[in-house]
Amino acid sequence: MPRKMFVIFGASNILWMVFTVSQAFKIETFPENKIVAQIGDVVSLTCRTTGCELPSFSWRTHLDSPLNGQVRNEGSNSTLTMDPVGFRNEYSYLCTAICGSEKREKGIQVEIYSFPKDPEIHLSGPLEVGKPVTVTCLVPDVYPFDRLEMNLLKGNHLLQNKDFVEPMERKSLETKSLEVTFTPTNEDIGKALVCQAKLHIDEIDFKPKERETTKKLQVYISPKNTVISVNPSTRLQEGGSVTMTCSSEGLPAPQIFWSKKLDNGNLQLLSGNSTLTLIAMRTEDSGIYVCEGVNQVGKNGKEVELIVQVAPRDTTILVSPSSILEEGSSVNMTCSSNGLPAPKILWSRQLNNGHLQPLSENSTLTLTSTKMEDSGVYVCEGINQAGIDRKEVELIIQVAPKDIQLTAFPSESVKEGDTVIISCTCGNVPKTWIILKKKAETGDTVLQSRDGAYTIHKVQLEDAGVYECESKNEVGLQLRSLTLDVKGRGNYQDYFSPELLVLYCSSSLIIPAIGMIIYFARRANMKGSYSLVEAQKSKV
Ligand SMILES: *[C@@H]1O[C@H](CO)[C@@H](O)[C@H](O)[C@H]1NC(C)=O
Ligand SMILES: *[C@@H]1O[C@H](CO)[C@@H](O)[C@H](O)[C@H]1NC(C)=O
Ligand SMILES: *[C@@H]1O[C@H](CO)[C@@H](O)[C@H](O)[C@H]1NC(C)=O
Ligand SMILES: *[C@@H]1O[C@H](CO)[C@@H](O)[C@H](O)[C@H]1NC(C)=O
Repeated sequence: MPRKMFVIFGASNILWMVFTVSQAFKIETFPENKIVAQIGDVVSLTCRTTGCELPSFSWRTHLDSPLNGQVRNEGSNSTLTMDPVGFRNEYSYLCTAICGSEKREKGIQVEIYSFPKDPEIHLSGPLEVGKPVTVTCLVPDVYPFDRLEMNLLKGNHLLQNKDFVEPMERKSLETKSLEVTFTPTNEDIGKALVCQAKLHIDEIDFKPKERETTKKLQVYISPKNTVISVNPSTRLQEGGSVTMTCSSEGLPAPQIFWSKKLDNGNLQLLSGNSTLTLIAMRTEDSGIYVCEGVNQVGKNGKEVELIVQVAPRDTTILVSPSSILEEGSSVNMTCSSNGLPAPKILWSRQLNNGHLQPLSENSTLTLTSTKMEDSGVYVCEGINQAGIDRKEVELIIQVAPKDIQLTAFPSESVKEGDTVIISCTCGNVPKTWIILKKKAETGDTVLQSRDGAYTIHKVQLEDAGVYECESKNEVGLQLRSLTLDVKGRGNYQDYFSPELLVLYCSSSLIIPAIGMIIYFARRANMKGSYSLVEAQKSKV
């Protein structure tokens, strides 16, 4: 805009100035009459004049409060700067410009607000299906908060609406919030929470009047239904291997951890893989293995017990006092077997048909006051899931023979040609332990008896003599003898066995034989009778 100043110097000492106003003196302001400013901003109010060469400016508030700003005058401009603008600037400012005698005034209304940030959404914890959670939506540093409205939505569904119509007791920036508690469901997966804040100040113009924050619902599901599958089995042979696979449900998908439970209850981490393969298993690898599914909101575990088995071995039997016993004594047979799990002991007796008759599951089998029938083979078996190991022992119960009886039927004195049965019985030992013999000078003849009985059909003179029955074992010996007399049909003397006489006479030992006859004869004389049998018996 053209402005002119003419300075005219006259010839005289008088200096005078003439201001020539080519245009009318005017005032204008920028902004024109109102400014809406956010607290914290830098706000400048400019007052400008036209049609005056050197205007003077002054600013004041309509209540004559302090200006709370810096005034800077530059020629026809005067600027009031509020840095930063705040509650103390919420006035009508009046700019007064004076040009000579003329005065112009113009006012600017400063209106302030504060709505600087989008709402914040806070959750009381991770969103877990089935677990109540509190959502807080807050709008920081609001002014004037009595104009604030807040909405919280889940998807399209309004959870809560709030107007903050409470009277403002003093001017201040406030953080306003609303809170909603809800229980997430599976349907909430994928939805979003929306927090809207509106500052209803229609009379002034600023942007934005609405702010909104969206938070996608991260819904978690705590791990559950943890399942372990074991292949081939939880019972393993030593040296074997096993593969265990674990799965767990949850959102996000749980991570799987395999551990072994130590004796003190702590877990020793083995793998972060869902599949755990253990090879060359040893007995000390037996124990409880734990699979845990873990995600952000929880964990769920499952246990499995692995048993490494060792088939029974080193089965041993200890017999006290001995496996050969006298009848009536007691015996302890103790069996042990190594294996994992510890083998069970089973004592049995082997029957004649080879079958086993179970007796006891105690490790020690005690037989008190044994009888001969207790003799036999006893079998101990060490048994567990991994196998059987067996060991046997033969028990021999010995009996001292007693009550041995030797008889001749019909009599011990028979006639030539009769039939005679010599039989031996023993009360407590088997017949097979009985030996029936016929004594002779040249040596005894063992008779083929049948069940202890020996039958002589058509007895001859030479069948006469001493018969002896013997039963003998480690613990005893019993003997019985009888003399069989055989009378010839001719009724001649039977004192001498003709057979024996022939034998003696034909031998080269004729002299001792004769001496023997004389000896026998002498003894016979002393006794008043003579029996070769009696003589032989005394030598036994
Ligand atoms: C006065 O203010 C106007 C507009 O703000 C500007 O264009 C001008 O340069 C200013 N004049 C002076 C002397 O500062
Ligand atoms: C789990 O083990 C399998 C097979 O051994 C392997 O392919 C995979 O990479 C492993 N995963 C992890 C996470 O270690
Ligand atoms: C058998 O064992 C029992 C119990 O240990 C003991 O009292 C007994 O003397 C033992 N008997 C023999 C014959 O060893
Ligand atoms: C096993 O031993 C126990 C005590 O030692 C005894 O009570 C039980 O009768 C025994 N069982 C057999 C079958 O011998």
